[in-house]
Amino acid sequence: MGRMKFLVTAGPTREPIDPVRYITNRSSGKMGYAVAGAARHEGHEAVLISGPTALDVPPGVDFIHVETAQQMYDAVRDMARDADVAIMCAAVADYRPVHVSHQKLKKSEGRILLELERTPDILASTRAEFGFNGVLVGFAAETQHLISNAREKLLRKGCDMIVANDVSLPGIGFGSAENEVTLVLPDREIQLPRESKEWLAMRIVEQALALLP
Ligand code: PMT
Repeated sequence: MGRMKFLVTAGPTREPIDPVRYITNRSSGKMGYAVAGAARHEGHEAVLISGPTALDVPPGVDFIHVETAQQMYDAVRDMARDADVAIMCAAVADYRPVHVSHQKLKKSEGRILLELERTPDILASTRAEFGFNGVLVGFAAETQHLISNAREKLLRKGCDMIVANDVSLPGIGFGSAENEVTLVLPDREIQLPRESKEWLAMRIVEQALALLP
C-alpha cells in the first residue's frame, strides 16, 4: 500500500461564555493523538486537528490547533478534500452559548440562565458537504445502547466505520490510558479487548486502511 493521507480530530472543544469562562468536556486527546501517531508510525501522512490538550504532538504529525467547534469545523472543511482516511476522535461540544459576552459576566444574587445552541456537526458534514470521498471513521461515546446507537450514527453520518466507546465503564474512555471499543462496520462488528489507546489506535488504523478501495 502507498502513502495515504490521514486526517484525525482529537481532544475537547472550548465554547466561550465570556473572556474567562468556557464550556468543555473531559476529553484528554489521548485517543486521537494515538491514532495520528499510529498512522504516521505506519508510514502515512497525518494531519491532527486538535482542541486544547496537555499532550505533545507525535513526531512527524502535522498539527492544527483549534479551540471551538466552529474552528474545528473550518479546519476539517479546509483539509478534508485531500485526505484518504478521516478519523474523528474529538469530543466536539454539542452546544455553545448563543451570546458570548465581551466583558466578564458580573455575579449578582440569584440564578442566571445560559442559553445554548447546537454546534455544527463536523462528522456529518465531512462527506455530505466538504467533498470528502475517502474512508470516514467516526467515534460514538455512549452510556447505553452502545451498538444500536453506533449503527444509527454509521448510517446517518455517512461513515464507513464507527468506533463505539462505552463511556459509562470505569477506567476507560475519557481521560484514561486504556480504552475498550467495538468497531462497527456495515456488515459486522469487531470487539477489541481492553488495551492501551496506542494499541487500539493501531487496530483502528489497520481496519480503516483495509476499507480503502
Ligand atoms: O480524548 P480521550 O481522553 O483519549 O478520550 C477519548 C474519547 C472518549 C473522547 C474518544 O474515544 C471518543 O469516544 N470520542 C468521541 C466523543 C464524542 O463526542 O462522541 P459523540 O457520540 O458525541 O460524537 C459522535 C461523533 O461525531 C464523533 O466522531 C465526534 O467527533 C463527532 N461530532 C460530534 C459532535 C459535533 N458537533 N461534531 C462532530 O463531528
